[in-house]
Amino acid sequence: MAEMLPAVPLRLDGKVALVTGAGGGLGRAYALLFAERGASVVVNDLGGDIKGEGKSSSAADRVVEEIRAKGGNAVASYDSVEEGEKIVQTALDAYGRIDIVVNNAGILRDRSFARTSDLDWDLIQRVHLRGSFKVTRAAWNHMKNQNYGRIIMTASTSGIYGNFGQANYSAAKLGLLGLANTLAIEGQKYNIQCNTIAPTAGSRLTQTVLPQELVDALKPEFIAPLVVWLCHESCQENGSLFEVGAGWIGKLRWERTLGAIVRQNNQQMTPEAVRDNWKQICDFDNATKPKSGRDSLMTLHEVLNKLGTKQGISTNPTSGSPQTSTSGINPIEAIGRRLSASEYAYTNLQPILYALGVGMTTKDPDHLKFLFERNEEFSCLPSFGVIPAQAAMLGGLASVPGLNIDFTKVLHGEQYLELYKPLPTSGTLKSESIIADILDKGSGAVILIDVHTYNERDLVCFNQFSVFVVGAGSFGGKRTSDKVKVTVNPPSRPPDVTMTDVTSINQAALYRLNGDWNPLHIDPSFAAFGGFRKPILHGLCTMGFAARHVLKQYANNDVTKFKAIKVRFAKPVIPGQTLETEMWKEGNRIHLRAKVKENNEVVLTGAYVDLVDTAHKTRDDGTSMGGKLQSDLVFAEISRRIQDVGREMVKKVNAIFQWDITQEGKIATQWTIDLKNDSGELYRGAARHQADTTFMLSDEDFMQLVSGKLNPQKAFFSGKLHIKGNIMHSQKLEMILKDYAKL
Ligand code: NAI
Repeated sequence: MAEMLPAVPLRLDGKVALVTGAGGGLGRAYALLFAERGASVVVNDLGGDIKGEGKSSSAADRVVEEIRAKGGNAVASYDSVEEGEKIVQTALDAYGRIDIVVNNAGILRDRSFARTSDLDWDLIQRVHLRGSFKVTRAAWNHMKNQNYGRIIMTASTSGIYGNFGQANYSAAKLGLLGLANTLAIEGQKYNIQCNTIAPTAGSRLTQTVLPQELVDALKPEFIAPLVVWLCHESCQENGSLFEVGAGWIGKLRWERTLGAIVRQNNQQMTPEAVRDNWKQICDFDNATKPKSGRDSLMTLHEVLNKLGTKQGISTNPTSGSPQTSTSGINPIEAIGRRLSASEYAYTNLQPILYALGVGMTTKDPDHLKFLFERNEEFSCLPSFGVIPAQAAMLGGLASVPGLNIDFTKVLHGEQYLELYKPLPTSGTLKSESIIADILDKGSGAVILIDVHTYNERDLVCFNQFSVFVVGAGSFGGKRTSDKVKVTVNPPSRPPDVTMTDVTSINQAALYRLNGDWNPLHIDPSFAAFGGFRKPILHGLCTMGFAARHVLKQYANNDVTKFKAIKVRFAKPVIPGQTLETEMWKEGNRIHLRAKVKENNEVVLTGAYVDLVDTAHKTRDDGTSMGGKLQSDLVFAEISRRIQDVGREMVKKVNAIFQWDITQEGKIATQWTIDLKNDSGELYRGAARHQADTTFMLSDEDFMQLVSGKLNPQKAFFSGKLHIKGNIMHSQKLEMILKDYAKL
C-alpha cells in the first residue's frame, strides 16, 4: 500500500500580503488567515459605508489589533483603493516588499438599470475596477523585479450571470475578469499569477439581499482558504476563475459550440444565412473549450482554409490598395522590413531535447555527448541553430506590413543555416530577422527571411528561411533573387555512403517541444484539413536527421567542423517512417539527399552540408601556393561573408578599406571592402570612392595577420603594415577579419 505522506502545511512566512477592504467581511477573513500562516499583512480599509460614503480608520485598526493579539504581523492602511500607490507604499515602508495583492474592497449602489445615475455607475467602476487597477499597477513592478507575485481579483456571480438591479456592479465585476485574463498573460514570465474569484458569503454587502440564515451559514472563512492557496508560491494556477462559497469551490471556463460557416467563397454574407444556420450556431453538442486567443484565431484560420481561399478577405482592413487586394503581398512595403528582435534563453535542456527530437539515442555511445550534460564533450548539435532563429521568425511574420498572407497556406520550402561559432550549450541568443526578398513564382510567393543570431555581440549563426505561400503569387514581382542561398544537385554517380535511421512514432510529438507548435504535426484533424493522412514530421526535423548523419560520417561528430547546411523540403515524412540519407563527398562539400525508405520518395533535395575547410587551415603557416596569391582566398571568403552579413557589418563599421597586397616588393593586387554602401561590397581594385583607410602589406604578412599569428599593431610598428588615412578605423579590422574571414 502506498505510504501516506504527512500533509505539509501551507506557510507564507516572509511574504507580504496586501488585502484591500480588509476592515470587515471577506477581506478581514483573508487578512486573519494570511497572518495566521505567517505572512505580514497590510490591512487596508477606507472605512466608509456600504454605498461608498464616509470614511474611518476604525475598521482597519480593529483587524490589525486582532491579528497582533494573536501574535501576527499587520499594519493598517486607510487610503481608498483609488490611491493604490499610497497603499502599496504602506507595505513597502512597513515590510520592504509586496508579494500578494488581494483586490477585495467593494461597495454596492444597486438600482434597476433605468434608475442608475451617473454617480451610481461611476462610483462602482471607480472602487471596483479602477481601484483594483490602481493598487495592482502600483505593486506590479515590485513583483516583476522580484520575479514573484500573486494577485486576486474579486468578481461576482452577478457579473458572470447577471443580476437584477446590479448593472453597474455586474459590469465592473466582469471587467475585473478581463483585467485578470490579461495580467495572467503579461505576468506569466515574471512568475506573477493572477486569478479571479466569485465568492458568495454573508457580509454587510449581502445582508440586504440574502436571507439571514444564509448570511449566517455562508461564512467568509469558507472563502479565505482558496485565496490563501491561490497566493501560495507552490500554486501554479494562473488566469483562472473560481466560484466559491459554503465550503465548495468550482472552476469555470469557456465553452464554444462548433458553430457554422454561414458564407460561401466569393459570395456575400447575409442575415438570412445567419438565421438559417441558427440552430447549428447554437448547438452545444461536441462543443469545444477554447483556452486562449490563439485558439480563437486558429478557428478562423481553419474556416478560411475550409473555404478554400482567403482572397478578398483582408485581415488588415486598412490595406485596400490594388496591389494588396489580389495577392495580399506588397513587395515594396515588405522587403527590407525588420521583424522585432527576439531573445531565446535556454539551458542544457533544450539542446538535449533537440538531439532527442532529431533521433539521437543512447543506443549509440557517441551520441552521449549530445544527450548528457555532464559528458566531457557535451555539445550542441549544429543544426540546433535553426531553433532560436525560428522562434524569432515565427513570432514576427504576422505583423509585417505588406505581407497580408494566409498563414494556413504557408509551406516551409527551403532552409539554409551557417554557423560562425559552435553553438553554446546554454545561454541567451538574440536574433534579428529581416525580409530579405520576395519572389513571385506565379502559383505562389517565396518569402526569404534572413535571421542573424548573436551571442552578446558575436554573430553565431545565420539562417535563411524560404517560405512558400500557396496562391499568393502573380503580384508582378521578380522570379529570382541574388539573395537566395541556392540548392545544388548531387553528382550523378551513386552515393558514396548511405545512412539509415527509423524515426519514432513520437518523433514529431517530441520535436515540436523545441518550439514549433503547429498542430499540423500532432493533431490528426488539423493534418486532415491540410490534406495529409496523418500529422507529418517537421521538415526541420528531417533536416536535423540528415545533418547529424553527415556530422557523424564525415566529421566524427566534431561540431567545430560543421559550417553550413542547405536543404529543400520536397515531400512530407510521416513519423515512424525510415529515413535514408545518401551522401556524396566533393571536397569540403557533402551533397545529400534524404529518402523515405518505405516508399522510396525523396524528401530532401538539392541539399548539402559544407564542412570547415581544414585544408585552408593548414596553409596559414604563410607558405606560398604556387604563384597564386593566398590572400585571394581570404578575400573570396570575406566576399561571401559580406553577402550574408554585409548589412550588419555596414552598421558596425561604416568605412571603406583599400588593401594593396604586395609580392616581392610590388603591389600585386588591390582589393576594396566598401562597408559604407547599403549592403556592403567587396571588389578587386582600388576604391571607387575615397577609401577611409588604405593598408599595404605583403601577401605572406596578410596571411599571418588573418591567421592571428601577426599582431596588427606590431606589424604596423615593425613596418610590415603601412596604413594611410584614418588609422582609427583599422581597429575595426579585427572584427572583419576575425569574425568574418574565419580562417
Ligand atoms: P464588505 O462590505 O464587508 O467589505 C468590503 C470592504 O471594502 C468594506 O470594509 C469597505 O469599507 C471597504 N471599502 C469600500 N470601498 C473602499 C475603498 N474605496 N477603499 C478601500 N476600502 C474600501 O463586503 P464583502 O462581502 O466582504 O465584499 C468583499 C468583496 O467581495 C467585494 O469586492 C464584493 O463586491 C465581493 N463580493 C462579495 C460577495 C458576497 O457574497 N459577500 C459576492 C460577490 C462579490
